[in-house]
Amino acid sequence: MNVDTIISKLNWFYSLELNQVDLYHVQSKTFNGRYSGVVFERCAYIEQNHVDNIGEKIKGLGGKPTVLGDIISSIIGKLAGELISMTSLEDTLAINIMLEQKAMKDYNDLIQKLHQEDNEDNDDLIKILQHNFVDEHLHTEWFRTKIIAIKQYEFTAKHFRAGTKIQPESQSREDIPKNPICSPKRAKIIKPRPIKTVKW
Ligand SMILES: [Fe+2]
Ligand SMILES: [Fe+2]
Repeated sequence: MNVDTIISKLNWFYSLELNQVDLYHVQSKTFNGRYSGVVFERCAYIEQNHVDNIGEKIKGLGGKPTVLGDIISSIIGKLAGELISMTSLEDTLAINIMLEQKAMKDYNDLIQKLHQEDNEDNDDLIKILQHNFVDEHLHTEWFRTKIIAIKQYEFTAKHFRAGTKIQPESQSREDIPKNPICSPKRAKIIKPRPIKTVKW
């Protein structure tokens, strides 16, 4: 791969990362006061590190960091305004996962290509790309875990409302072991809180 090709590929990442900084900033404001808001704020900071390390590498190769436009809209197929108007946390997380996965796929493709060239001059760049990939992977896994947690909570709240008897009717009192963990008193404690009180 010649230097111009590498620079143009890096400019693509530079643009995507910059778009993600903006998106996570907006999301951190949308979810202000919630734990997710803090996570998005932290994600924006990490994506800014990626902007900086890719930008430095482009300069080091003799290029000029260049924004190629609204990369996110071209990936998702929606305009930036539409994305920002999505205020449900689940939708937000799902969109974020799509973007992170696109970034991961493209980082991985470039890492593989550079590996195949077996050129020591690429080692520094490969390391930067790998580290960025790991960050995107961690973001993806957190978003995914949060979606599962929301689904799980909604399922519990729907099927096991506060009035639900945890102990099946058919089970006689004699069947209940003496272990305090399984006592009827304990069973009453295991009730989901009303969903509106959960600050994801
Ligand atoms: Fe990134
Ligand atoms: Fe990321």
